[in-house]
Amino acid sequence: MPRTVLTFGTFDVFHLGHLRIIERAASYGERLVVGVSADKLNLLKKDRLPVFSEDERLAIIAALKPVDEVFVEESLELKRHYIERYNADVLVMGDDWAGRFDEFSDICEVVYLPRTPAISTTALIEKISAT
Ligand code: CTP
Repeated sequence: MPRTVLTFGTFDVFHLGHLRIIERAASYGERLVVGVSADKLNLLKKDRLPVFSEDERLAIIAALKPVDEVFVEESLELKRHYIERYNADVLVMGDDWAGRFDEFSDICEVVYLPRTPAISTTALIEKISAT
């Protein structure tokens, strides 16, 4: 049976750290599904709307070679539902979330990968705003 990997993120202002985690997530299985967080979820979580809309972010992620399927993550409370819906064998998250999803290890493997150093959407937005 091919292994399905699931990962989540906002992936706003797409950068190398995003690409690297998607490539590394894909290496854990044969099918990679990515949940891209909804605009309204970001408003709640980060108190601002993403630079790129969810449709734009979905289109960018869906076009990446390692990605097989994308969907909009509507709520942070639905992780278990998404794992089941997409039959995920592995949940991959950046280690900024380390330990936070261990509760799902009853239904899939949970893996936290180190973040790519020195790059983030927030830092990029600040850098661009300052120029
Ligand atoms: N990520 C990563 N390395 C980075 C930045 C992000 O591995 N340098 C990973 C995160 O751990 C997450 C995914 O990419 O699994 C999506 O992260 P996201 O929050 O969308 O990106 P950030 O750049 O962290 O955004 P922000 O600065 O708004 O928090």
